[in-house]
Amino acid sequence: MKNIVLTGFMGTGKTSVARELSSMLGMKIVDMDTEIEQEQDCTISEIFAEHGEARFREIESDMAIKVSGYDGVIISTGGGVVMKKENIDHLRKNGYIACLVASAEEILRRTSRSDERPLLKVDDPLKKIKELLDYRMPYYRNADIMIETDGKTPRQVAEEIVDGLKWKK
Ligand code: S3P
Repeated sequence: MKNIVLTGFMGTGKTSVARELSSMLGMKIVDMDTEIEQEQDCTISEIFAEHGEARFREIESDMAIKVSGYDGVIISTGGGVVMKKENIDHLRKNGYIACLVASAEEILRRTSRSDERPLLKVDDPLKKIKELLDYRMPYYRNADIMIETDGKTPRQVAEEIVDGLKWKK
């Protein structure tokens, strides 16, 4: 059975939607950032601070290869995984790619609840979110379905994914 791979910018709801999908479909969740933190025995913020973003991206690509070998799980990715096409190529081999989309304002609201995102620790996070979204949008489009999440509950988004995937046999 194919994996369901959730992509999308930080704060688009990948973690909450993964939980909904998991309870709807009885599939296990594999969160790439959590796997990286366990494997490296430190937090994502620590990897960025001590080794820089480039090193994080290498570790992330290795993890993309590893989780691409899994079967029948929900894979929640980090928001930057899409920027290397080969990461998505690997994840797609045994997975449907569902990309979650949200407005910059909604992303700011959702991400300001925690300070775990090193890329958004800047003076003007809204400006940074807009810049990153502009740059990354073509990469996020490399998905089997794209789902708008503004104003929707995680359950509604999960249901849209399940409906969308029925046509992707
Ligand atoms: C990142 C997103 C984060 C995490 C890291 C980098 C990004 O994951 O991988 O901080 O570049 O967008 P979430 O999307 O789960 O917040």
